Amino acid sequence: MRLKVHTKATLSDAMTALEKANREVAYQAALEGIVLLENDGCLPVKPGKIALFGAGAGMTIKGGTGSGEVNERHAVSIREGLEMSGFTVTTGEWIDEYARLYEAGEKAYAEAFRKKLMTLNMTNVINLMSEPYQYPFGQPVTKADLEDSGTDTCIYVIARQAGEGADRKLKNKEYTLSEVERQNISLCAAYYEKMIVAVNVGAAFDMNFLDEISGINAVVFFAQQGTMGGKAFADLVSGEATPSGKLADTWAQHYEDIPFAKEYSYLNGNLNEEHYKEGIYVGYRYFDSFHVTPKYPIGYGLSYTTFSWDMEEIVVDQTKITVSVRVKNTGEQYAGKEVLQLYVSCPEGRIEKEYQKLAAFAKTDRLKPGESQIVTLQFDFADLASYSTADAGMILEAGEYRLRLGNSSRNTEVCAVVELDEEVVTKHLAHICERLSPVEELHQPKREAAEHTGRENTDGEHTGRENSDKETNAPENVAHRAICASDFETIEYHYKNPDVYSSEKLDPILNKLSTEELAALTAGAGIRGQKKFFEAPGSAGFTTGKLLGKGIPNVALADGPAGLRLQKRSALMRSGKLKAVDPFISLMNYMPDFVKKLMLADPDKNILLYQFTTAFPVGLALAQSWNTELVEKVGNAVGEEMKAYGVTYWLAPALNIHRNPLCGRNFEYYSEDPLISGKMAAAMTRGVQKNRGCFVTIKHFCCNNQEDNRNRTNANVSERALREIYLRGFEIVVKEAYPGAVMSSYNKVNGEYVNNSYDLLTKVLRNEWGFDGLVMTDWFATGKGLGDHAKAIAAGNDLLMPGGDGAVKAVTKAVQDGVITVTDVRRCAANVLHGIMSSRIYYAFCKKNGTLLR
Ligand code: BGC
Repeated sequence: MRLKVHTKATLSDAMTALEKANREVAYQAALEGIVLLENDGCLPVKPGKIALFGAGAGMTIKGGTGSGEVNERHAVSIREGLEMSGFTVTTGEWIDEYARLYEAGEKAYAEAFRKKLMTLNMTNVINLMSEPYQYPFGQPVTKADLEDSGTDTCIYVIARQAGEGADRKLKNKEYTLSEVERQNISLCAAYYEKMIVAVNVGAAFDMNFLDEISGINAVVFFAQQGTMGGKAFADLVSGEATPSGKLADTWAQHYEDIPFAKEYSYLNGNLNEEHYKEGIYVGYRYFDSFHVTPKYPIGYGLSYTTFSWDMEEIVVDQTKITVSVRVKNTGEQYAGKEVLQLYVSCPEGRIEKEYQKLAAFAKTDRLKPGESQIVTLQFDFADLASYSTADAGMILEAGEYRLRLGNSSRNTEVCAVVELDEEVVTKHLAHICERLSPVEELHQPKREAAEHTGRENTDGEHTGRENSDKETNAPENVAHRAICASDFETIEYHYKNPDVYSSEKLDPILNKLSTEELAALTAGAGIRGQKKFFEAPGSAGFTTGKLLGKGIPNVALADGPAGLRLQKRSALMRSGKLKAVDPFISLMNYMPDFVKKLMLADPDKNILLYQFTTAFPVGLALAQSWNTELVEKVGNAVGEEMKAYGVTYWLAPALNIHRNPLCGRNFEYYSEDPLISGKMAAAMTRGVQKNRGCFVTIKHFCCNNQEDNRNRTNANVSERALREIYLRGFEIVVKEAYPGAVMSSYNKVNGEYVNNSYDLLTKVLRNEWGFDGLVMTDWFATGKGLGDHAKAIAAGNDLLMPGGDGAVKAVTKAVQDGVITVTDVRRCAANVLHGIMSSRIYYAFCKKNGTLLR
């Protein structure tokens, strides 16, 4: 039997040194991404007997569902982790009984799912994942369970699954505690002396039960922590390690506290139009500006030790601000890490402002008791600018900027005041994504007047309201610095179609292609199994295999963001092709048997090839580490696996904003804050792309903030919110880390599909930010009733995924009909080819064909 395609899957299933090393990186990341929310001193607890209950106890959720699932060798559950760390779990029977409940639920779900499959409308295939199997809440804990446990310490793990294609449903208790959990936790809290609740959920959760149930001593936000999560959890519980994770979102006291909470996604019955009425007031920008007390503020997280911090120095070097802070571990027993955060309150003249925004953050090393360290927090003052719709520009208003230093948005003190002498326009921009139906946006209530200025609201209208200052007087005893308007530049942009990429190596190949062949380059290989030079089994897609004879190999694109999603085992078939052996996405488990038989090979009858990759903590958990160095290490670990298995584009990191906690994919994304999102994604990008020939694909650009009806919904959003909140994170990654690719999102923005938006894909991404890589669509995002294939090409969306003959034909025809030009197609094809020629696969292809150019 001969393999007809090249692959880097191996014949051995032994654990490699890389897999071992990456599990260690996953462990470190999990340790730093777990957040201690409450602790009355009960934690840490020494290893000993422990009662463990709850849905996530034995079947701990390592990550959400959908394309972000990673098929790792084995994920350590909380139960296993505790046992590995020397605890004796005494409630094994309850946990095993739960597993049986889970299986029975799965069976019933599979039956219902199969029925649904029969009635499925093919255009909605991508939304098959919209109703994932939900973990049962659990069976009642009985008195006998309590008594038989033989311990005074209990951990109860609440777990909820969520994922691609669906938002979390309030009515199904996906965001709140269920009745049986309430009863169980109440019972346990009354019985055990030490009661710890862990939340194994990929997003914020309603914590009101803490006020209703007494006797809970500690709460841990475990989130979803990948392959080593259970072990990391156990080591934090035992005090082997000290918690240092901090929330990357504001957790509301009540769901209704979130602005326009009841209008989000499915809740108002309108899935086609989503109105971003809160404008820039997303997350803490809302809570802090409108004086709404959150349950937990962004940046919050407890430790086993205590820290103090003192500002050492603030340096203004032209437009760069550097704040040095001495952080000291003031505890006596535990070493630990602290995260320092710098928020800035900008002066409010004619432009309405949020109370404060995060400008910089830094995490300390592991400090022993009594030890101290100086950390530096740095930012460019120009990044504080606000968008003025009236001026189509980014503006820094003259006045006092208050720098607030602390360890959460609600625990800061003014540490310095920087005064700007005159207003500065930092950028002159073109208007983008014009809104057809303006949305009435939220504004701050009139505040006590200091000065009457005629303030501009977020829609660019002058409200004539009075300016106010948030604190009448700046503290006198902090450093005051001046910054000069004359030190800033005003950036002007030239809006035009970028030149077609050209190089000595690329042009001869491109010049030989017909229009149809150029079009073939702009569409992926499709799902019908085109001929391939190279295969990484389990990849979500490939570039075209039609041009192998023209010297162009296909390359592989594989999912993330919680690791590299490939197939663990593939069978070498008699045809010489590779076939999956195991369901490579959990949804497949529920397909009718005949479909599974068709799609999967028998492991006992075929030679097997292996690819083992690592499931890392989900994006939200990584953000909670607030540790960009660590995230860069995770990126490098992913890059090493891409190299090992020949993947060219990783379909990650994902950095949509957590606009609402119910978004089904929040687990994949980092934060409600664009700075955190951008910095995390930039670190991940640097890590991955350190590995030559490996590229990230930052996604989903942009405003894919809801999953229900995600491929048709229209995000109605103001230009200001777009620029300051939803585009800002992407801008940071593009400018700081040069990602190889961007994935345009399914949704529309202000009436236009993003993949058809020249404003977003060319004006913003390429003209303003200087992006020169590849833009691809999300999967099946163009076609009938969706974004137009040809318009996508004209807008600057280079690659239509997963592609196939239909897309190639449509693009070729559009050139023939004069709808788009051959240069439009060539521009996109050149970007695709440039990526292919930079890959490791291209090198292998040329080597094999003897066409290697040096
Ligand atoms: C998801 C993307 C993913 C792609 C390929 C889509 O459904 O939205 O995030 O990369 O599938 O699997």
